[in-house]
Amino acid sequence: MTSKELRKAWLDFYKERGHVDIGVASLIGDGTTGVMFNVAGMQPLMPYLLGKEHPLGKRLCNVQGCIRTNDIESVGDSSHTTFFEMMGSWSLGDYFKEERTKWSFELLTKVFEMPVERLATTVFEGNESVPRDTETAMLREKSGFLPQNIFFLPKEDNWWELDRGPCGPDSEMFYITDKEACCNNCTPACDCGRYVEIGNDVFMQYDRISDDKYVLLDKKNVDTGWGLERILAFLNTDGDVYLTDVFAGAISILEEKSGKKYKEDENVTASIRIIADHIRTSVMLLGDEKHLVPSNVGAGYILRRLIRRAVRHARKLNISTEVFSELAANFIDNVYGDFYNELKNSKEFVLNELNKEITKFEKTLNLGIKEFDKLVKRLDEENSKIIDGNASFRLYDTYGFPIELTEELAKEKGYIVDIDAFNEKFKEHQEKSRTAATGTFKGGLESSGEIETKYHTATHLLNAALKVVIGPDVHQRGSNITSERMRFDFSCDHKLTDEEKQKTEDLVNKWIQDGIDVTFEVMSKDKALKSGAECMFIEKYPDEVKVYSIGDISKELCGGPHVKNTNELGHFKIVKEEASSAGVRRIKACFD
Ligand code: ALA
Repeated sequence: MTSKELRKAWLDFYKERGHVDIGVASLIGDGTTGVMFNVAGMQPLMPYLLGKEHPLGKRLCNVQGCIRTNDIESVGDSSHTTFFEMMGSWSLGDYFKEERTKWSFELLTKVFEMPVERLATTVFEGNESVPRDTETAMLREKSGFLPQNIFFLPKEDNWWELDRGPCGPDSEMFYITDKEACCNNCTPACDCGRYVEIGNDVFMQYDRISDDKYVLLDKKNVDTGWGLERILAFLNTDGDVYLTDVFAGAISILEEKSGKKYKEDENVTASIRIIADHIRTSVMLLGDEKHLVPSNVGAGYILRRLIRRAVRHARKLNISTEVFSELAANFIDNVYGDFYNELKNSKEFVLNELNKEITKFEKTLNLGIKEFDKLVKRLDEENSKIIDGNASFRLYDTYGFPIELTEELAKEKGYIVDIDAFNEKFKEHQEKSRTAATGTFKGGLESSGEIETKYHTATHLLNAALKVVIGPDVHQRGSNITSERMRFDFSCDHKLTDEEKQKTEDLVNKWIQDGIDVTFEVMSKDKALKSGAECMFIEKYPDEVKVYSIGDISKELCGGPHVKNTNELGHFKIVKEEASSAGVRRIKACFD
């Protein structure tokens, strides 16, 4: 079975049983579950699992991309990936354990034709608040599971929940591999690799309303999520997800470019898997409907880490990162484009953003590696194995090394990063930035008369125009407004040419003439950042923020006030362009 056939088989199976396909949601969390990404198909369904009526009914299904980066370090083995597709089906207060267990076994043995001896399942063993789930154990056996392959496990293994929201005891299903049992007590709870989880049926009866408080839901739901890649791997290979059709193109591209064979050597295999996985996830995030881009905060930082880690592993394989575009195009054109429409439509954006991040990192990577080697030499001289906060922060700040990358490099060479010391340095640095920001903001908008308000809106237009003319890496570094003029500081590594100044001025004036509406929305800081809003110093803002948009030209976190339409501004003129500090330029402008 191919991935396309498997998706179809899943959806057909449930449609035949009265379920409606609800389609695909964004991979980026909406801030309601306390997690950055969509980690499970149930996430976008939270309100409905809590009791709200779903417009498409009580039986739903889909195939949904999910991102889990908590075990990013496990990527490199045969079954862990940071992106995966979860095949889901739900009963919203409709059927419960009986149908669920019957259909699960039917799928496993009739549709996927897995031998019953290969299948194991786990059931919640109960605790002081929730009883042992003997009913599910009985039903699993009745459906056909072998009694010796049914295991009762505690809450840490058999309970599904997120930070908040619908939750309950679950019953997982495993494929039993050829690996020898690690001990006499080897159960699916072991991570020795003998049992690989392929699916999970959750019986949701509770709402987690605080860390340790659960209330019963009015209706009982079933939340089912099965792993597409893993099932595919057991249907077609010995369980290696990288040998399935979703990765076949990527692996052969990497083999060809490196001249090395997948599985010929442990390190080579791990690097090939890491690159294939990380580029796939990056492509899915960049090409998501919310178009996440790499940054230094939140989800954007995870994306940055994935791309930068892939770059480092390309070096280990001795291949140029040019191959990343080829990998990305392969995932879009041959694997996912047909199913994930937004991805197909944003191919150019995905390739551009990927290349931009690679270029940015490659500029400093060589120097960073040299710095790292020097550091290691110094540690050897001092007979130490510990990388202190100053050194790791310098690698982060000056050379763009995510701390996890420094840790990985250190581990490979037998050193340890003092993470607490790094965090300390990081905090110190943030505090310095905050002080600087407060200073700037105080002077930023001293009074808000009509003319000042106009200049304030003009700073947003100027910020947006500079990004078009100079490049997307231009960011605001400060601003100051009086009734006579506006001053705007921004990151840029060169003096603006006359042509650049003219183009910037013209663009701002064009937008003023176009008469574009200026609007704002109040949202959580998290959501604002994920929506790609510009912001100078994120720590300065409260949890609820205002995001001002000027048509689709500009989107910035900002307290306001602003004019209602750009046509209220006068003719914009750049009066002066000069250096402000290293890497920061300053423009003074006024309405003439
Ligand atoms: N929400 C369940 C899981 O992710 C199905 O395991």
